[in-house]
Amino acid sequence: MVTTFAPGRVNLIGDHTDYTGGWVLPMAVQLGTTVTLSPGGPRVHLQSEDEPQPADVPLDEPHPATVHPAWARYVAGVVTTLKPTVGGRGRVHTTLPIGAGLSSSAALELAVALALGFDGPPIELARACQRAEHLASPVPCGIMDQLTSAAGVEGCVLLIDCGTETFEAVPVPDGVEIVAIHSGEQRQLAASGEYATRRAQCEAAVAQIGRLTEHYKDPHDIEDPVVRRRARHVITENQRVLEAADALRRGDLPTMGALMYESHRSLREDFEVSTPALDQLVEDLRGTKGVYGARLTGAGFGGCVVALAQPGAVDRGWRLRPSAAARRLD
Ligand code: GLA
Repeated sequence: MVTTFAPGRVNLIGDHTDYTGGWVLPMAVQLGTTVTLSPGGPRVHLQSEDEPQPADVPLDEPHPATVHPAWARYVAGVVTTLKPTVGGRGRVHTTLPIGAGLSSSAALELAVALALGFDGPPIELARACQRAEHLASPVPCGIMDQLTSAAGVEGCVLLIDCGTETFEAVPVPDGVEIVAIHSGEQRQLAASGEYATRRAQCEAAVAQIGRLTEHYKDPHDIEDPVVRRRARHVITENQRVLEAADALRRGDLPTMGALMYESHRSLREDFEVSTPALDQLVEDLRGTKGVYGARLTGAGFGGCVVALAQPGAVDRGWRLRPSAAARRLD
């Protein structure tokens, strides 16, 4: 019997920057997914406590994206990517809210990959699971979610350079709480195709003006006004990530908080991935004593906001602790 655990993640700042090789500042959280597997046989059969139907995938599944039930697509994506020679039967249990923007799919992918015997460095685990996600869903995600789950460090956020796929652990100062609050809206990324559209717009911007990581880059040369605004978000967000990491190192929480509010404004106005419910939550938090900053976290279009606050200032949501990476538990 093999038992594995993979954490979800919350991103403090740096959204929609990963797939054009920018910076992000996420942390692995204590909530995550556990897989228990008895190896053997030609299929991977997993029963989930949260799903009525099991995932039952043959080792040679050619089309992970059409597998049923839908959650089994992530299992199939991992199987197709890793090509294990032996399957197994087991169970999945998660403490993550599903589809809330805390990377429940990445956690499932990593926990399954480790249970199927993946043995390699965090970046290889992350790349394999990113490929699995691309096979399983129409969302062409970047590397952030899988790499955060694969490389998380207890007590720290990760400053990830998605261009070089390298990272540095930055300790979270004492006396601060990180809280995720659900907007009440399930993310519907795949159905709307909005994520893929945003990614294509960012790639169009890169094709016209080059990398979006230099602060002096001026998107004015981009003719299409929508692509220009998308580029402006990414260029300014990359700089905010670096400033936020510096602020955290200094323990300067008011500056970090101001950068989070500015990030939300940019995601709302220039990147257009917020919703009225997310905006309302951020405004409520702005008016709450002891809150340094708040913003939507992850892809947007519903899901969660993340707040940085004094302990006890926010009386709802999930209190998230910066936690260690995905691992075998036995
Ligand atoms: C999703 C994707 C990530 C990243 C975020 C937005 O979580 O999986 O790769 O692009 O959206 O920052």
